[in-house]
Amino acid sequence: MEHVAVIGSSWGDEGKGKIVDYLCRDSDIIVRYQGGNNAGHTIVVEGRKFVFHLLPSGILQPGKLNVIGNGVVVDPGLLLEELAALKGEKLGALKVSEYATMIMPWHRVLDGIEGGKVGTTGRGIGPAYESKINRLGFKIGELLDFETFSKKLAERLEEANWLLQNKYKTSQLNLKEMIEQFRGYANALAPMITNTSLLLAKAMRDGKRIMFEGAQGTLLDVDYGSYPFVTSSNPSIGGLYTGTGIRPRNVKAIGIVKAYATRVGNGPFPTELKEEIGKHLQDKGHEFGATTGRPRRCGWLDLVLLKYSTDVNGFDGFALTKLDVLSGLPKVNVAVGYKVGNKTSENLLSMYDMERAEPVFKELPGWSEDISKCRKFEELPKNCRDYVTFIEKTTGVPVKYIGIGPGREELIVR
Ligand code: GDP
Ligand code: IMO
Ligand code: MG
Repeated sequence: MEHVAVIGSSWGDEGKGKIVDYLCRDSDIIVRYQGGNNAGHTIVVEGRKFVFHLLPSGILQPGKLNVIGNGVVVDPGLLLEELAALKGEKLGALKVSEYATMIMPWHRVLDGIEGGKVGTTGRGIGPAYESKINRLGFKIGELLDFETFSKKLAERLEEANWLLQNKYKTSQLNLKEMIEQFRGYANALAPMITNTSLLLAKAMRDGKRIMFEGAQGTLLDVDYGSYPFVTSSNPSIGGLYTGTGIRPRNVKAIGIVKAYATRVGNGPFPTELKEEIGKHLQDKGHEFGATTGRPRRCGWLDLVLLKYSTDVNGFDGFALTKLDVLSGLPKVNVAVGYKVGNKTSENLLSMYDMERAEPVFKELPGWSEDISKCRKFEELPKNCRDYVTFIEKTTGVPVKYIGIGPGREELIVR
């Protein structure tokens, strides 16, 4: 059985949600393996737009099982809100790993205070992962023994309140209110909490096909990204194994690549366009964060970084999204090299080059046609096809899917 992983190749928002929603029709189970509600995955079905932060993007497909794996950080209140907002929709089932770490209320407060330099989403992601690694975190399965949970909550909150008051000079959080809030979460979530590693291992033995849905992207990976301007998890392929507790034998890794580059938050961005064309891409591509609404920084596609991301993940194929947004530009640039001092290289030689390199661009001719009605590769204008072929030749990875609009069916499959 061949399983599929959908992984962001860049700084997130590449269009993973749409590709998961389309491709998961051939899978039985859709699993999120890392990140939390810092993600915003957009799906457009028959003109209706849905944005999922924590729920796997297969949730709108009845008959499928959606799983939130142990590598995810879960804000329990947000999870319930997200489910409540889908009331009346036909949904797939949902199971949550008992071993997923919870984002606690003080994690959100601390992220709001400490996350400014990186420009985090403020959702408590970093502090929750910090607690997990520190061995001071709360697993969601702990809610099932509420008495023990309440005692631990009292201890941890006392420490958090000390920090909030003495280090950050901000107001304390109330224990009684928090216990009642979490009692509600425990009751509502109990039927969904289980050992998802066992569940997935059995599903694999039963011949079920699994789709792994990455959040964020490889350049935001805490180990492989532009540290410290990264998220606190492993969006790249390694996160799939630690974040689910299974080892699928055969996983096809699909790298999601936006036809141009975007980044939300701070950190290096070698091909960033600060002038007119950047603004054009931002407007035409509606490049505003699906989670925070912040404008996304825009730039040209960076093949130096895409080759790096391909090395990290071993991509078997790409889904190239938002190609329609480039229509109408007289010429399109792609970065094919980095110049550092007087040395030029086609490959990323040091992670620190992201901060100091001057990109070397290859200029390709643009196309003016609206491509949103094309359903076959051959129907695309020649310059547009050449753009796709240039990406394939430079990276050595085939472009298997091409996004030509936000809708579920606005996709060319090759
Ligand atoms: P994700 O975080 O990787 O799932 O991506 P987001 O949902 O944050 O951002 C991608 C945006 O692009 C969403 O608004 C999608 O609806 C939209 N989108 C996805 N694929 C395409 C495409 O091929 N063309 C256009 N025009 N929009 C797309
Ligand atoms: P999806 O799954 C784009 C960015 C934030 C910030 C950095 C750290 O929709 O692609 P965090 O809150 O994770 O500690 O913030 O990472 N970031 C994202 N950027 N898409 C995302 O998710 C992101 N999730 C986090 O903007 O720069
Ligand atoms: Mg997003």
